[in-house]
Amino acid sequence: ALDALEVAWSIDSTNSELLRRATPAHGAAALLAERQTGGRGRLGRSWASPLAAHIYLSVARRFGDGLARLGGLSLVAGIATAEALHGLGFASVRLKWPNDLVVVDTAGLRKLGGLLVEGGGEHAGPVRAVIGLGLNVRMPDTAAQAIDQPWCDLATLAAPATTPARNEVAAAVLGHLLPALDEFDAVGLGRFLPRYAALDALHGETVELRGPAGIERGTVLGLAEDGGLRVQLASGAERRVHSGEVSVRRS
Ligand code: BTN
Repeated sequence: ALDALEVAWSIDSTNSELLRRATPAHGAAALLAERQTGGRGRLGRSWASPLAAHIYLSVARRFGDGLARLGGLSLVAGIATAEALHGLGFASVRLKWPNDLVVVDTAGLRKLGGLLVEGGGEHAGPVRAVIGLGLNVRMPDTAAQAIDQPWCDLATLAAPATTPARNEVAAAVLGHLLPALDEFDAVGLGRFLPRYAALDALHGETVELRGPAGIERGTVLGLAEDGGLRVQLASGAERRVHSGEVSVRRS
């Protein structure tokens, strides 16, 4: 259930704001912003957040015992968002482990959005998490120039049909996300694994794993039960990597 839904005109970061506030004891609090002045991406990157262009959404919620890794949560939020977009007719939306929403079509793989999950902890007992989603709706020309990777937005995908209003997209995302978070809290990641497999942009792809120990190459087998990525190395051995340990690139 949603405890509060708020739209800010301008804020540093919807994630930062919800991390500063108390989290509801039951239910979830959602915060959208028309723009962010200090939007944050993963790995300390910034997330450009121009006015009235995209969706900047954060949801704060408590999770019961056993949320050992936030990685599972980011996957669940990605699944819910991708399924919401499929429901709006954007059938080419996929997930790139661990936290990217991408579009895969004849133009290749392009980033449509991303998730930044913060909070939680490795300890037992209830934890609080903030799930942040940035989703490209209509990229202004001025913002496009600053992006250093292939990207996509809903307006491009929808053309020549009309792009749904940001409110409509946000409502669809929340309509899928909130029940998914309830289900994840109640029963964990297990039932999401087949849903992830149907959206997996990396399945069967050759990837490079870049970590502190250097670069390894392998073929993606899919998700492990704990949300890690199963990769078969050239030696035949299987590696299981977790979010934050390595960066994954298609090669
Ligand atoms: C990534 O791909 O690196 C994750 C991007 C997450 C951006 C969203 S926008 C709403 C929320 N507030 C933030 O500051 N970041 C997330």
